[in-house]
Amino acid sequence: MGIDSSAQLAAVPNFDEYKFVQNKYMRTKVVFGRGLHKAAAQSIFNGGYKDSRHFLVTDRTVNKFYGDLMESVFVDAGYTITRVICDDSEMSKSFGQFERICTEMLDVGFDKNSFVISLGGGVINNLAGFIASTLYRGINLAHIPTSLLAQVDAAIDFKQALNTNHGKNLVGSYYPASVVLVDPFFLRTLEDRHLYNGLAESIKHALAQDLSFFDYLSSFSGNCKSDEFEDRIIRDSIVLKTKLMSNASEETIDEIIKQYGHAIGHAIEHLSKGGVLHGEAISIGMCVSAVIAENLGFGEKGMVSIHERIFKKYNLPTKVPANISNESILKIIRYDKHFRKGKAFMGLLKSVAKPASSKESSFEIPIDLEQIGRALTACRGV
Ligand SMILES: NC(=O)c1ccc[n+]([C@@H]2O[C@H](COP(=O)([O-])OP(=O)(O)OC[C@H]3O[C@@H](n4cnc5c(N)ncnc54)[C@H](O)[C@@H]3O)[C@@H](O)[C@H]2O)c1
Repeated sequence: MGIDSSAQLAAVPNFDEYKFVQNKYMRTKVVFGRGLHKAAAQSIFNGGYKDSRHFLVTDRTVNKFYGDLMESVFVDAGYTITRVICDDSEMSKSFGQFERICTEMLDVGFDKNSFVISLGGGVINNLAGFIASTLYRGINLAHIPTSLLAQVDAAIDFKQALNTNHGKNLVGSYYPASVVLVDPFFLRTLEDRHLYNGLAESIKHALAQDLSFFDYLSSFSGNCKSDEFEDRIIRDSIVLKTKLMSNASEETIDEIIKQYGHAIGHAIEHLSKGGVLHGEAISIGMCVSAVIAENLGFGEKGMVSIHERIFKKYNLPTKVPANISNESILKIIRYDKHFRKGKAFMGLLKSVAKPASSKESSFEIPIDLEQIGRALTACRGV
């Protein structure tokens, strides 16, 4: 006999609620709490939607650890769930996986009230989110992010996407999950490399938005796997990201900050073909951005070493990989959505938590390719 879903929520002692809203159609609630996964049915469905079939979309690794557990949470609360399993890794954000999963879901059948529930890292959140936004031109979506990177950034967004041969996230949609359920419980099985990878996005939030959070990360000397550290970085990151999400449109300072280090990082990540993870690539991208800011006179003295120190402290790379040429990076940057009139429009920092602005175009600073090439060369290992 299953437990009533509202009893599931009552059994979770503490949880925080945040939201990000752009208009009446684009609104997402984020719930954060240790042990909250046990109350996933109540958090997502609030007692409704029992007549529809729902889909739990996950990858092989996450399925191995949490597939049975999470399916039983929903089934015990009286829901009909079909599990859909994807391959691991960035390669899953592809047209091929998109078609396969849509076909699998259509074969099983669903209706307009069905939910796609993503259970996984940023890859699964993005892929499942894009699927939810396209089936019947939009069915319900909820995210249960399981990697640190997804809990502090990828799932806290309206952006859903696939990659193409030309670059990352080039086909996608803006589509809201109704609920994002963040539970650090899942992090206990995350490999160390993926923990640091996720920290890169938290460092981005701190560097670009919050000096006290940056000071905390800089001076922290304890265990990165402690509850105290995890709770602090996830909470602070959610607060900072939801603040940006509530204001962001493509040209605002908020969008530019969200994308700090990403134009260069995405190109490196794409060209590495899975060798450099997303957080690792944007760490390099932020270091290159700091050099550009210094070369152009935007960044205060010392910002390049501030960047290098914080990324090295958390085992993140700061140098452009030797096997990826400047030319190939500059070619891929042309597909970045902020590239126009022959220039990459990027965010730069004056100092920690102080974005630089230029006279003519505010916070979106036009950078020519030659300037990026010079900074890439400066950020190569000796
Ligand atoms: N939408 C956005 O705004 C946004 C923002 C940032 C990043 N992203 C995207 O997020 C993706 C990167 O996300 P990611 O780093 O989570 O990658 P990922 O989804 O590939 O997860 C990393 C690895 O960790 C494994 N994993 C996940 N949770 C686990 C757990 N609890 N225990 C054990 N293993 C676990 C996965 O199986 C995978 O092998 C990129 O595609 C990036 O473009 C999107």
